[in-house]
Amino acid sequence: PSPSDQAHSLLEWYDRHHRRLPWRLNPGAIAQGERPDPYRVWLSEIMLQQTTVGAVKSYFDAFTARWPTVLDLAAADVDDVMKAWAGLGYYSRARNLKKCADLVAEEFSGRFPDTEEGLRNLPGIGDYTSAAIAAIAFNRPSAVVDGNVERVVTRLHAIETPLPAAKPEIKALVKAMVPTDRPGDFAQAMMDLGATICTPRTPACSLCPLNDGCLAYQSKTQERYPLKLAK
Ligand code: ADE
Repeated sequence: PSPSDQAHSLLEWYDRHHRRLPWRLNPGAIAQGERPDPYRVWLSEIMLQQTTVGAVKSYFDAFTARWPTVLDLAAADVDDVMKAWAGLGYYSRARNLKKCADLVAEEFSGRFPDTEEGLRNLPGIGDYTSAAIAAIAFNRPSAVVDGNVERVVTRLHAIETPLPAAKPEIKALVKAMVPTDRPGDFAQAMMDLGATICTPRTPACSLCPLNDGCLAYQSKTQERYPLKLAK
């Protein structure tokens, strides 16, 4: 199957099996004219940087109830934000969160930049997070690559180069798959596939929408990937 066939199969799977998470729109909602709230996308991606989906949910709900917009968060007392973050860990994220909210409020009238490059310049936003927000909030065709996606792609193509050297190749392969009509759903579908099917141990290959083109699956070597440079 071609990269766009694979993306199509993945989106069909996502439409049926996506995880329902508080910061997500339903699959296909953008095509129906709904617009994601960049503030909610940004907040969820910062919280998810080093924390699991399960741990983030209640914090995400508490933050958005107390500070419904980036302007509310900018107007908040930094000590209150730090207290609300308590328990999530990696507290530099909370300090950068507040800095970023202040900057978006003051420099951009409360509107997040809508490109990967524009987002990349904000406090707390690196390569992964800028790509994720650009795709999910602004429907930009950016290649969103986290650990889950690295695992999916190295298996799909049986990539023998170890991480981290394989990163540019992985990014290019993801880029070739991104469907221009649904880049945000595609990014989240890849994450869900990695989290629920293409897991590190005993992946559920028989249920995978990409199994027919998966080189690792064809040679029963899925658990070999991704190769990692010995530390
Ligand atoms: N991890 C990071 N971003 C995520 C998202 N949008 N959905 C699920 N897991 C994620």
